[in-house]
Amino acid sequence: QLSLQEQQFMDKIKAEEKIEPKDWMPEKYRKNLIRQISQHAHSEVIGMQPEGNFLTRAPSLRRKAILLSKIQDEAGHGLYLYSAAETLGISRDEMIEALQSGRAKYASIFNYPALTWADMGAIGWLVDGAAIVNQVSLQRTSYGPYSRGMIRICKEESFHQRQGYDIMLSLVNGSPEQKAMAQDALNRFYWPALMMFGPHDSESAHSAKSMEWKIKRETNDDLRQKFIDQTASQIEFLGLEHPDKDLKWNEERGHYDSGEIDWEEFHNVIAGNGHCNRQRLEHHIKAHQEGAWVREALAAYNAKKQAKHTE
Ligand code: ACO
Repeated sequence: QLSLQEQQFMDKIKAEEKIEPKDWMPEKYRKNLIRQISQHAHSEVIGMQPEGNFLTRAPSLRRKAILLSKIQDEAGHGLYLYSAAETLGISRDEMIEALQSGRAKYASIFNYPALTWADMGAIGWLVDGAAIVNQVSLQRTSYGPYSRGMIRICKEESFHQRQGYDIMLSLVNGSPEQKAMAQDALNRFYWPALMMFGPHDSESAHSAKSMEWKIKRETNDDLRQKFIDQTASQIEFLGLEHPDKDLKWNEERGHYDSGEIDWEEFHNVIAGNGHCNRQRLEHHIKAHQEGAWVREALAAYNAKKQAKHTE
């Protein structure tokens, strides 16, 4: 038996009305949103690291300027998302603490190393590509601030994907060594990109409730299928070999059938044992500590300004 408040909340969800920060919401809805949005924010911020490594190694001034602005966009996405989570009654400091102590997750993909310039192409194209498929769907999420954040983020994310695909296009049209580099990056990033969508629906702990509450609008497997379908023709256009040897068009389903993901690898990476997990967190902690003086200076400046105001 639902209480009157719960009934009104569910009526709003059913009517596709957004839930806003001051509205009543079930405690579990609030907690689930904080979990998802804060992990999403952490992913944006940690995601700056693999590409940041290549800023000093970009092959031209033009490529460097593009990559720099793309990475800055990711920082902005993190900030929108932290702000959206803060409307649910958690502080930025609490979220950062959860990340740095290893309690909160961030997308598994960012624990893979970026080894060559071609990885900048594969990351923009596949990682941001997978992120968009998910985020387009989240534009219709039931929580107002999250939904509005997603609309803005998706616009920028489309540029990110294009810049990645553009790097791949240049490489496949370059020397045989460059084309081989592009193939190698595709081979390494394709499967981890599929893992970004999370476990199969049958294994997904949060999906059922998140779908009912319309926090999530499509399931992990449905979104992954969309990505597999759209990526197949993009790989073909690049003239590269598909990393999934079992990929096959299924006329009846109107979708590609694909090989199985290595779930052991997925669970290992999210348990903290990926190539770069430790390095990513150490780097975040170091940067955060080194930035302490900026936060202190800002707080001191604000206090001074306020004191003047009340004089
Ligand atoms: N990497 C790390 N952890 C993951 C991943 C992944 N690819 N997929 C699932 N998980 C975690 C979940 O966070 C959850 O852990 P928790 O209970 O400790 O929080 C657990 O595995 C079980 O998974 P689900 O029940 O399926 O979790 P959920 O319903 O939250 O679905 C998903 C996972 C699809 C990632 C969802 O949270 C989502 O859509 N998030 C927003 C998008 C996002 O975070 N994108 C980040 C990458 S994009 C970018 O930053 C460029």
